Amino acid sequence: MTVPPPPPPPAASLAPAPPPALVGHATPGAAPVGPPASPGAPRAARLSARGLVKTFGTTTALAGVDVDLAAGESLAVMGPSGSGKSTLLHCLAGILPPDHGEVTLEGRAVGALSDRERSLLRRAHYGFVFQFGQLLPELPAEENVALPPMLLGAPRARALADARQWLVALGLGGMERRRPGELSGGQAQRVAVARALITGPDVVFADEPTGALDQATGADVMRVLTEATRAAGASLVVVTHDENVARWCSRRIEVRDGRVVAS
Ligand SMILES: Nc1ncnc2c1ncn2[C@@H]1O[C@H](COP(=O)(O)OP(=O)(O)O)[C@@H](O)[C@H]1O
Ligand SMILES: [Mg+2]
Repeated sequence: MTVPPPPPPPAASLAPAPPPALVGHATPGAAPVGPPASPGAPRAARLSARGLVKTFGTTTALAGVDVDLAAGESLAVMGPSGSGKSTLLHCLAGILPPDHGEVTLEGRAVGALSDRERSLLRRAHYGFVFQFGQLLPELPAEENVALPPMLLGAPRARALADARQWLVALGLGGMERRRPGELSGGQAQRVAVARALITGPDVVFADEPTGALDQATGADVMRVLTEATRAAGASLVVVTHDENVARWCSRRIEVRDGRVVAS
């Protein structure tokens, strides 16, 4: 199976205007900003996993997990520490190959791809937000955000122009040249959200995105993450053990000992 070449990077003129909802004070569970699904139309799963099993030595991290993620949906993967949440995210995102089972993106089997194809798929179709410290510390915010499109072949000047527009859209105007160490934790996570969305991904994966933040800052980051992802038309998977994070998502599953016990 071959992966189509990456889409051309977005033209500067297509860079996002500030998503309108970001200006207001939306609350968790507020109505989606995007167009409503046509009534009665079946929502095909964008990302699906069937029968995922993953072991590390004698530890069974995933013991047979099925997940479906619809287009535009935000899914919270909840559960206690060690239950398999991060392993599930890594398998869904094509970072870790499962021992058994299959992940499909828009019907394409990700496991059938070569390492190179899978890495290209991640760059072109996925965005990632991790707990902390995933920005390159020596690069200013705008260059951190410009990296993903540049890795896909966008000219540096255009990638930087898009990056600046994303930073302004996410409330970081004036901070474009600051390095991560010169930003607050919440600002750094906004930079990470901009970096995840700049390539126009199909799915954004976030692993404990507020894990290093206080409650109020965490809520602010979740608002920006969920609203900007929705406005960009991407689906979202958020791994968290925190109810205050999960309530921003449209659906949740609960993982215990490598199994989905509630959804
Ligand atoms: N790379 C690894 N090597 C060995 N064990 C691992 C590895 N990654 C995860 N595990 C184990 O798999 C289980 C699930 O881990 P993880 O998916 O990180 O849980 P969670 O994200 O819910 O805290 C744990 O018992 C953990 O110790
Ligand atoms: Mg984890």
